[in-house]
Amino acid sequence: MELTERHRFGGMIGKSPPMLRLFSLVRKVAGTDSTVLVTGENGTGKELVARALHFSSNRRDADFVAQNVSAFNDNLLESELFGHIEGAFTGAVRDKKGLFKVADGGTLFLDEIGDMSTGMQVKLLRVLQKGEFTPVGGLDSERVDVRIIVATNRDLESMVRKGSFREDLYYRLNVLRVVVPPLRDRKEDIPLLVEHFLDLHADRGGGPRKRLSPGVMASLLSRSWQGNVRELENEIERLLVLAGEDEEIGVDLLEPVAPDGAPRSYRETGDLASAVAALERDMIAEGLAACGGNKTKLAMRLGISRTTLLKKIKAYGL
Ligand SMILES: Nc1ncnc2c1ncn2[C@@H]1O[C@H](COP(=O)(O)OP(=O)(O)O)[C@@H](O)[C@H]1O
Ligand SMILES: [Mg+2]
Repeated sequence: MELTERHRFGGMIGKSPPMLRLFSLVRKVAGTDSTVLVTGENGTGKELVARALHFSSNRRDADFVAQNVSAFNDNLLESELFGHIEGAFTGAVRDKKGLFKVADGGTLFLDEIGDMSTGMQVKLLRVLQKGEFTPVGGLDSERVDVRIIVATNRDLESMVRKGSFREDLYYRLNVLRVVVPPLRDRKEDIPLLVEHFLDLHADRGGGPRKRLSPGVMASLLSRSWQGNVRELENEIERLLVLAGEDEEIGVDLLEPVAPDGAPRSYRETGDLASAVAALERDMIAEGLAACGGNKTKLAMRLGISRTTLLKKIKAYGL
């Protein structure tokens, strides 16, 4: 299959109308210094969009720095972002440059911004308003020239309504919005992506370029891809491993899955409670795989609290 230049942009592959629109939007937005909010489900390519924005902007020669804000507690995150001076706290044995400083002249990508605590939201807002920050334990503020890109899979508008995300920060971040469509809405991209992942693997020294045997693509196209491009990438990875020395990936390697849109199988006998439990168990097991084991995300996706989810995982022995 031919992959023309029109169908790739800064590491992103796609030929569907929504992806072509995304490429042209990213091209336009890259030329500005405005803050960008990238939204979309997990695994849709939000980080790739952020990278494409940086590497097609005139900041490309400076650093692209990515930080997942949900990876640290507030104290650590503050010192990670703004740096600290020697002796600021136990363990601060020397001055440490914060990521805002590292990204000076370049781009700072703050991922999972919807998971930022309200305390940190205040601190981030202050930097965005004043263009300066003070390292932890420091007295003097520093000024940097950084373009901010943030991403989330959460519904920030509803978080603002509920009071868990600051409205003033939301407006500061949502200057330009890039929405990354889920893979299920752009299935025509699947063949291109599959070929792209097969190429990537071969380039990385994974041996000769493998082919799909007839029927494999059709089966891949029929799935629902709840986990989006990341799930597709993992599936290709799995098939490549299972294919071993074979140059062709056979249909026998595919796992049986309910095709897209097909109703889930249900029992016509037995009691409702156990059927509901079986469905619940399946949804949680599949969800865990699709969310890469991230229970906070899965709880959100399923619309239940994390505590409830943890109880169910335990109860079903997952
Ligand atoms: N359009 C695309 N073309 C090629 N690879 C993609 C595309 N979208 C996503 N990927 C790949 O899928 C994986 C998940 O993408 P990522 O940007 O981390 O998603 P997100 O940040 O939305 O969770 C990455 O390995 C990424 O390279
Ligand atoms: Mg991501």
